[in-house]
Amino acid sequence: MSTPVHPLEPLSADELRRAVAVLRSADRLSEAARFSCALPVEPDKATLRGGNGAAIERRVRLVGYDRELGASFDALISLSQDKLLDFSRVETGHAPISLADVARVSGITKADPRWQEAMRNRGIEDFDLVQIDPWPGGGFVPEGAPAGTRLMRAISFVHEDPDDNAYARPVEGLIAYVDLEREEVFRLDDHGVVPFPPEAGRYDAASVGPLRDDLRPVEITQPEGPSFEVDGHAIRWQKWQLRISLHPTHGLVLHDVCYEDEGRVRPILHRASLADMVVPYGDPSPMHAWKHVFDASEASIGHLANSLKLGCDCLGEIRYFDATFLGPKGEPFSVENAVCMHEEDYGVLWKHTNFYTQSTEVRRSRRLVISAIHTVGNYEYGFFWYLYLDGTIQMEVKLTGIVGVSAVAPGGGSDTAPLIAPQLASPVHQHLFCFRLDFELDGRENSVVEVNAEPLPRGPDNPNGTGFRSATTALTSEAGAKRDVDPGRSRYWKVLNPNVENRLGVPVAYKLLPQGSPTLLAARDSVFAQRAGFACHNLWVSAYDPAELGAAGDFTNLHPGGAGLPAYTAGDRPLENTDLVVWHTFGLTHSPRPEDWPVMPMEYCGFLLQPVGFFERNPALDVPPTGHCAT
Ligand code: CO
Repeated sequence: MSTPVHPLEPLSADELRRAVAVLRSADRLSEAARFSCALPVEPDKATLRGGNGAAIERRVRLVGYDRELGASFDALISLSQDKLLDFSRVETGHAPISLADVARVSGITKADPRWQEAMRNRGIEDFDLVQIDPWPGGGFVPEGAPAGTRLMRAISFVHEDPDDNAYARPVEGLIAYVDLEREEVFRLDDHGVVPFPPEAGRYDAASVGPLRDDLRPVEITQPEGPSFEVDGHAIRWQKWQLRISLHPTHGLVLHDVCYEDEGRVRPILHRASLADMVVPYGDPSPMHAWKHVFDASEASIGHLANSLKLGCDCLGEIRYFDATFLGPKGEPFSVENAVCMHEEDYGVLWKHTNFYTQSTEVRRSRRLVISAIHTVGNYEYGFFWYLYLDGTIQMEVKLTGIVGVSAVAPGGGSDTAPLIAPQLASPVHQHLFCFRLDFELDGRENSVVEVNAEPLPRGPDNPNGTGFRSATTALTSEAGAKRDVDPGRSRYWKVLNPNVENRLGVPVAYKLLPQGSPTLLAARDSVFAQRAGFACHNLWVSAYDPAELGAAGDFTNLHPGGAGLPAYTAGDRPLENTDLVVWHTFGLTHSPRPEDWPVMPMEYCGFLLQPVGFFERNPALDVPPTGHCAT
């Protein structure tokens, strides 16, 4: 008998092997089949709350592409019964790009005589020095492409030596369309030769010249150890309780986030994670006009988690978590130290000096940081969840790495692709993240309202014309809950539980505090908007459906569009006092700078979830004074 596993514990390597064996023995796949990922199937809320967690069936979906089947597949397996429950051929769209696809795209492209000829035209004879970046082929499938085939695009960069930064030397004008079913370059577009930029883009310590020598060490020590407790993937820190996992598509997931309030464990979020993201390029040139990669759902961002290193990625008393995923041939692989957790001093939590008595009370703020960093091709994405002593939850996305590039002739560069180095331009683009926030605020039935600051009309009640108010509007159904930020009105959205009142007789609530970022800038009838409908609004609210997890649907790779949030909300389901899910799209609109080259200093975006009448008063009054204030 094995020890019962909590239903939200991540899949183990042994479970993944068993799932693959069950599927193989069902004889539905050919030898050519390659796995894209193994998706944990989390029990829905009703099942999870139903009682005995250990008795809940553990399930997994194995998703991949079988060249002999000529399609992607989606298999549902019960690990508790060692049984294939369902097997289907994916009819619209494809399984995510697998590590096997990435290797094949490079080999197929380099073997193509037309591509070789185009490289020789650019003075490149040594193809070993060429780096091929595979890009998803979705949205702009060229005429004549075999229907439903697994298509990718390949663009090329040239190293000076194997260890340098190939993005310094983009092969401008050349795009190969690779058909992974027939294993051939289906089409090669050559928009003309542009000379390589003259400078290298090295950024390693040995290449950048003298390093500054006046930075003295910062050491973070916690002599009595950190204040959290960990059991498997269950975490307790201060009054917070939660579980975490690293999902192939959604990255770092928070499960069952609760706060202990005067002895009561109060649920806040059932599940919170990235639900997809898109990086649409704004440069309409032929090299970039098609680029709008879904790094989460097309590239399985979870698989691309870095193995984090103490003292460089994370500083202080760190607790790491490994992650286990499924490789293309059905063998599990693990990423050591994929998730980093630690406590961080965050300045002053609250303070007041009584002017008349000069007595001061001040407390230090501290946050629990749970983070992962993912490398997706040229770019790094860090996802940082922060939990604070005062009940605040924050998501901060950190962006670094190497910006997308174009080689341009001397004197080139434009307002759609500004120059960042001599003869090197970087197209404007957006990074739009959609987070799925499955609230369970003091219970499953919640409502959502929008709050705007608005001036009051001048009149007998507002004689000076100085009055303003917080105006609240209920978002009563899915169609009316597609909303955008409005910093000019300090707009935010509030999730509340109409069945639970605080001592002031007001429903308990948390607010979603957005940043002021534009939604998708591409035209609403464009391919980008069709495929990334979630990016067209900052807020969506849907009625809970356990099958609705992906903001752009389940199989976004080569999907023509319309799936995900636009489809989920098409029925305009009612939202009041019901089990609902909040989806928040935000991001950065990036006009690259010379300072972003050759590697970009970290940029940040995100959102806050803050209690509003969820607690009876400042919940961090009981934080003890420290340091010189403790005596
Ligand atoms: Co960027």
